[in-house]
Amino acid sequence: MEPVLQARGKRENVLGNAREERCVPGFPSACEQKLEQEKLSGVVKRVHRDLRKKYREAGDFEKIWLEHCKDKGRLCEYAVAMKALADNHWAKKCEGEGRIEWCLGVCQEYFFNGGKKKAIEKDARRATLNKLQSPNHAEDGVSDFSVPNIKPLNDEYMTGKIRLLDVGSCYNPFLKYEDFLAVGIDIVPAVETVCKCDFLNLQIQRPLQFAPDAIDAFLKQLESPIDYLPAELFHVVVFSLLLSYFPSPYQRWICCKKAHELLTLNGLLLIITPDSSHQNRHAVMMKSWKIAIESLGFRRMTYSKFSHMHLMAFRKTSLKTTSDLITMNYPDMLYIPQDFNYDGEEDYFSPCCARSELEDEQLACGFTELPDTPYDSDSGESQNSTMPFYEFEDPILLLT
Ligand SMILES: C[S@@+](CC[C@H](N)C(=O)[O-])C[C@H]1O[C@@H](n2cnc3c(N)ncnc32)[C@H](O)[C@@H]1O
Repeated sequence: MEPVLQARGKRENVLGNAREERCVPGFPSACEQKLEQEKLSGVVKRVHRDLRKKYREAGDFEKIWLEHCKDKGRLCEYAVAMKALADNHWAKKCEGEGRIEWCLGVCQEYFFNGGKKKAIEKDARRATLNKLQSPNHAEDGVSDFSVPNIKPLNDEYMTGKIRLLDVGSCYNPFLKYEDFLAVGIDIVPAVETVCKCDFLNLQIQRPLQFAPDAIDAFLKQLESPIDYLPAELFHVVVFSLLLSYFPSPYQRWICCKKAHELLTLNGLLLIITPDSSHQNRHAVMMKSWKIAIESLGFRRMTYSKFSHMHLMAFRKTSLKTTSDLITMNYPDMLYIPQDFNYDGEEDYFSPCCARSELEDEQLACGFTELPDTPYDSDSGESQNSTMPFYEFEDPILLLT
């Protein structure tokens, strides 16, 4: 696979200088590590910044995107830098902050530990309540308040593997987990197990009418490049640090819409997006994202705030993908601070983003007061989970 091989060649260019400065071979000092991380994050940030600059100057995101995807050398350098950051820096210093483990925990809770059943039952109770509260309910003949209209389910608990699509996968971080049948796609894969695919231009076909085993077999034989995929194929779609890559809110919107089409009913869209501010400066922005994404036929199920990122799980609640672009401003609601010429957010990728000792102390104090379960923003209830939560604030609740 050409991009992967090219990327390997580039690795020496990206890391070469930092290696020469090491005093003891194989044991880089903290300073050398920081230098190396700065170089890698510089590669990543430059690609993001240049893409945004071009978009601001020219405005035509389709043309700019096409040119961007043709710049193979630069994209390979980016892929290698991202993988090295994840392998050699974030994993060791917890700067990636366990986002992949967060996804695993949410999925296990939802698919294996009754989360899905609870969510569907809650929807049914809500629907019954709405019906009872509607002015015409007396005419409907509904009289029993205590018995919600819960339809019997036959797929409450997952029996096989969770079919997961990781968009912008880069180095396939979900592949190692037994619970997933993980398909990683990227415009420039950093490893051979990720398929080459531009999600923005992916064509969605009619759903497969196959048994689950046959769908698994279909996914296992996928090869690069992927240009088409059937609808309703995946239980989970992950956008981990993907949406902020795009210079235009409309591109983020297209991605969310495609994710909706690719998910089975009650499937999950997991979105992780960086935020360099420790305080919840971007609570309003996250509320805006919630409204826009829910308008497609999702309901937000879980929201978590780690010190440098927002993590959200949306459940697909309607089979049909709704997108009222004409009367509503939904695509623009998927904005990020960088859209307004503010590049401070890119600090997320830098070593300086690491917490100071004081910040670590403050965070440690916070641990004693935090619940150890994720939070359901709809019900105000905590849900059981297997993973730790480092910071816990619901911006929507804080606002109200
Ligand atoms: C910041 S990296 C995130 C990598 C990984 N998901 C993580 O969490 O560490 C963003 C990735 O998205 C990929 N990407 C950007 N646009 C894409 C598109 N339209 N289709 C597929 N992948 C895309 C980039 O090539 C890059 O590898």
